[in-house]
Amino acid sequence: MTRRDYLHMLGATAAFAQAAQNSSGTSAGDADRERRMQWWHQARFGMFIHFGVYSTIGRHEWAMEEEAIPVREYEQYAKNFKPKPNAARAWAKLAKQAGQKYMVMTTKHHEGFCLFDSKLTDYCAPQQGPGRDLVAEYVEAARAEGRRVGFYYSLMDWHHPDGARCATDEQARRRFVEYIHGHIRELLTNYGKIDILWYDVAWPLDKDGWESEKMNEMVFRLQPDIIVNNRNKLEGDFATPEQTIRAEKRAWESCMTMNGSWGYQRADDNWKTPKTIVRNLISCSRDGGNYLLNIGPKGDGSIPEESVRILTAVAKWMEHAGDTIYASDICQPRSSEYASFTRKGNTLYMHVYFWPGSTVVIGGMMTPVKSARILATGEQVKFEQDRFRVRFLNLPEKAPDEPATTIAIECYGEPKQDTDFVRRERPRV
Ligand code: GLC
Repeated sequence: MTRRDYLHMLGATAAFAQAAQNSSGTSAGDADRERRMQWWHQARFGMFIHFGVYSTIGRHEWAMEEEAIPVREYEQYAKNFKPKPNAARAWAKLAKQAGQKYMVMTTKHHEGFCLFDSKLTDYCAPQQGPGRDLVAEYVEAARAEGRRVGFYYSLMDWHHPDGARCATDEQARRRFVEYIHGHIRELLTNYGKIDILWYDVAWPLDKDGWESEKMNEMVFRLQPDIIVNNRNKLEGDFATPEQTIRAEKRAWESCMTMNGSWGYQRADDNWKTPKTIVRNLISCSRDGGNYLLNIGPKGDGSIPEESVRILTAVAKWMEHAGDTIYASDICQPRSSEYASFTRKGNTLYMHVYFWPGSTVVIGGMMTPVKSARILATGEQVKFEQDRFRVRFLNLPEKAPDEPATTIAIECYGEPKQDTDFVRRERPRV
């Protein structure tokens, strides 16, 4: 393959990925999807919130199942679940600060407890410990900070008597599916415009058992602008890689915890650093995906101190670097041992997370560079470029910015990197 063919191929791959991201097909359905998802593709960064009875227990959101807690015993925790009023306001404020454009909160997790007011069960927030509608508070808080509103909803239900037997008993399945569809109808009827419906765990039924087609039809009838994920056994609008960053040939969102647990787990101290979080966000943005980063508030609704500390550091960086993340184009340059990249048009953003000292280099940089500056300070950066590399020179020994220093590199064309060219043609002298 000639270098020209190679570059052509890279261009074609990027164009293909961009087309997949935009889901730009020809059918009316595809056009409608593109319309509904436009804001979401630009948003790139969201806040996931796992909040429920498990938050008072503080031993992971799967405690009920993992510790085989009997339903009646678990219900006692629901009576003692008393979050302080409007705890969600602090979540929404922090999301705004961190540049998380949307929020997704668990309206009902696997434990079966509804944080919303339901006519279908008394196992819901207004009728248990909280004594009020926690979903209403969340929606109001998110809107007050200009965040888009998402509802997580678990199909699997450990509390409902038909939640498991629906797999083998048709009467039970009918009752249970009516209950679940009924919840979704309540959620999408009683809280105004909702931006995302985030299904989870479809155990123990398949798409026919859940009547998933009918479910989504109802969802779009009630909320014509909403987007839905793929966890009710249908494709939905976007894929949901979990705890991993994996680009897909369609719209995708990587959801991730800050420690190892979604729900509050008191003793889990396995926190990611702000640097790891920022690197993950960059990787998602580079490859055209979104990053949905979780907080697990305590039973009183307060955010664990460590999560606040981490997100505040991310917020500080996002203040000046956010624009390199939002509405980014898929970025082909990706090879560096100390930096990762995002792109907007002909501008390449090199995010240096392990600052190497006074010289920073991109090997195999094929596109001529016009100018470069440090994003945080606006300072121009001197550079030299030949066929094999571009070197940014006279930089400070110490990283000018943390968790990453971003160099904005304006190029004469779409920035392309060719490491294969370097390997083959290597400067020999
Ligand atoms: C898994 C877990 C669940 C969590 C979800 C988030 O499905 O069962 O606890 O809410 O992932 O993606």
